Amino acid sequence: MKPFAKRVGEIQPSMTVEMDMLAKRLSTEGRSIWNLGVGEPNFDTPLHIREAAIKSANKGLTRYTAPSGMQNFKDAVVGKLLRENKLAYAPKQIIATSGAKQAVFNAIAAIVDEGDEVLIPVPYWVTYPALVNYCGGTPVFLECTAENNFRLKAEQISKAITPKTKAIILNSPCNPTGVVYNYDELESFAKVISEHDLYCISDEIYEHLIYTKEANISIAVFPDMQERTILVNGLSKAYCMTGWRIGYMAAPQLLAKEIAKVQGQSTHHPSNFSQYGAIAALNGPLDSVLLMKQEFSERMYRMCEVLESIEKVHFFKPEGAFYVFANVSAYYGKKAASGAHISDSIEFCKALLDEQGVVLVPGVAFGYDACVRFSFTASLPTISVAMPKFKDFVDGVR
Ligand SMILES: Cc1ncc(COP(=O)(O)O)c(C=O)c1O
Repeated sequence: MKPFAKRVGEIQPSMTVEMDMLAKRLSTEGRSIWNLGVGEPNFDTPLHIREAAIKSANKGLTRYTAPSGMQNFKDAVVGKLLRENKLAYAPKQIIATSGAKQAVFNAIAAIVDEGDEVLIPVPYWVTYPALVNYCGGTPVFLECTAENNFRLKAEQISKAITPKTKAIILNSPCNPTGVVYNYDELESFAKVISEHDLYCISDEIYEHLIYTKEANISIAVFPDMQERTILVNGLSKAYCMTGWRIGYMAAPQLLAKEIAKVQGQSTHHPSNFSQYGAIAALNGPLDSVLLMKQEFSERMYRMCEVLESIEKVHFFKPEGAFYVFANVSAYYGKKAASGAHISDSIEFCKALLDEQGVVLVPGVAFGYDACVRFSFTASLPTISVAMPKFKDFVDGVR
């Protein structure tokens, strides 16, 4: 048998997805599992969104449409971007995608050539370097340390730029760190990015989940940025639509045309009823989003309260998204109560799962092995049981 393509051999499965699959498998095998690993809200999609999708299917709106999405979907996105982000786009700059993940893939596939360098702040969402590698590019990592509260500095961007640098990927609010960049920080990034004529892929999927007084600011609002920004967003997180696979991207017009070609030859468009559901979400009230955010704040508070009580665990209180990224490296090189040796974030998570049934995601998946990621998408009762179990676990490490 001839070998498979090298690029598939090199791609690693997503560790966040793997941890979730493992938790689900152990659960069906009868183990008591407290899953703080999953990156999806545990709420139902709001009723008005589900009804809009069902209505569209019952009306027979189930045929192929344009690869880049339906006109009324694009109009809803254009309206949203103007209303909420103060960004004026034409519908032909919008592409409907099967989740924000496909939007990230489309963006990288359309701009990255063999050997191009793409700047990625660390810790990063697992998918970014995997896709840059898949498309033949070279990820160049910008290390943001826990000591610096995981905040990127504009100087780090300028120092890393070479003649091969094509783009930077920014994610604010950030998965996994919870960092939300403010106006001054984004302005300083924008200056460097535009001065060096880079593309900026701006993943804003957690924009509605911010727990400080700041609102999300898209980097595309700064001078010379809209023409080089590929704005990525989706409905999975804010509207609890993970399984609907619906997201979108807004790009400079010529690039949008190229991206539509990629999509036209690969997946065509996301399902029509997901687009109809998304239209109802984007044009509808934000009440459910605000209620969910309130619930997330409460959960984050409970989670942080326990973490604060553990002297050797250090963390940055999240400003956005729904994760706490905590430094547990003080336990590396030691033994869990079960006797398991812990030398890194994978062994830490494995020992915790074996001993207490609590699922976290190892920081190494995000390029930062000193940490583990807790997700507060789990219910308050789950968090209330899981966090003391986590504390029992670390208290037993010697
Ligand atoms: C930063 C970030 N971007 C994009 C996505 C993908 O979301 P979607 O479900 O819209 O593909 C995720 C999902 O975890 C994410 O954390």
